Amino acid sequence: MTSFDTTFTGPGTDIPDLDWPNLAFGYLQTDYNIRHTWRDGRWSEGKLTSEPTIPLHISSTCLHYGQECFEGLKAYQTASGDVVLFRVDENASRLRYSCRKILMPEIPEEMFIESVMQVVDANRRFVPPYGTGASLYIRPLVIGSGPILGVRPSEEYTFLVFVTPVGPYFKTGFKPLDFIVEEDIDRAAPLGVGDAKVGGNYAASLRAGVPAKKKGYADVIYLDAREKKYIDESGPANFFAITKEGQYITPDSPSILLSITNKSLITLAGEKGLNPQRRRVAIDEIVDFTEAGCCGTAAVITPIGSITWKDKKIVYAKDGKPGPHCTELYNALTAIQVGDAADPHGWVRTIPG
Ligand code: PLP
Ligand code: COI
Repeated sequence: MTSFDTTFTGPGTDIPDLDWPNLAFGYLQTDYNIRHTWRDGRWSEGKLTSEPTIPLHISSTCLHYGQECFEGLKAYQTASGDVVLFRVDENASRLRYSCRKILMPEIPEEMFIESVMQVVDANRRFVPPYGTGASLYIRPLVIGSGPILGVRPSEEYTFLVFVTPVGPYFKTGFKPLDFIVEEDIDRAAPLGVGDAKVGGNYAASLRAGVPAKKKGYADVIYLDAREKKYIDESGPANFFAITKEGQYITPDSPSILLSITNKSLITLAGEKGLNPQRRRVAIDEIVDFTEAGCCGTAAVITPIGSITWKDKKIVYAKDGKPGPHCTELYNALTAIQVGDAADPHGWVRTIPG
């Protein structure tokens, strides 16, 4: 077996000796991943394997033409030791949408959920213990894996799901971070694939994200590519803000990913009287917000401490602490995700043990 993770010694039963509360958002090899192949118009049964590499034809469409999409979701351990998934049906649905956008065969919902459950169950010992703040990140992906040279869809595909235990995407966790508005680089075009979770969007974001991080910013905030007037989102997460009137607002844009975390926060914000609204959010409104944040599976809620735009720095977290609404929403969301709070919307699904 080829292993790129020197701490991994092969499938086992012992609880791994990891520093759970301080895990980074990074890849650690786990016991199993699962793979399905699409050939002759149908998906194969899933095969569990411990091999972390894939044999790939050198002329695969994913390599040359970016025919690839993926998902991200998390499994959590609850106080009673159950392992639960958060809104897995939403990820299944978004992956089908992404597949359709780049002409790949869809993964049926049942197959998606079954594969995710099977691979989490097979890697149960890597689910971070309750109370550590860490979780098991699940990365399903679909790639065009057949040999084609012209620009057209592959005739063969691979769907695979791997998992890895992670800490927060932004390593400081629930602490306000500084962001910068990127005006000169677009992440996605309005009629393109910005609303699909395709790898090319992330490749396109590197050119803006890397220099911003070198300057000390957590990440960039992109503007709409057509008018450069409205906020789109950040590289790895959606954007939201709280207005002076105490309203939760979040951009409505054709070029952003429809975040499942944001959709959940909109529901929770409604329950907390924050009158949530998806609408175009003009960049010059940022001076009027009382709080702002990024949200996503990996980022959870990352409060925005400041936004630098042109020569201005608008500071939200003057005392370095997350604002009250960000805190209330973060607590409400994470309590449901780890089973500490009631789940009135049926968002959480237990993986049978
Ligand atoms: N926007 C982008 C570009 C993302 O990559 C992600 C992460 O998945 C999100 C938003 C947040 O989406 P979700 O909350 O479904 O993880
Ligand atoms: C996620 O939040 O799950 C994502 O896929 C974002 C990614 C940049 C880590």
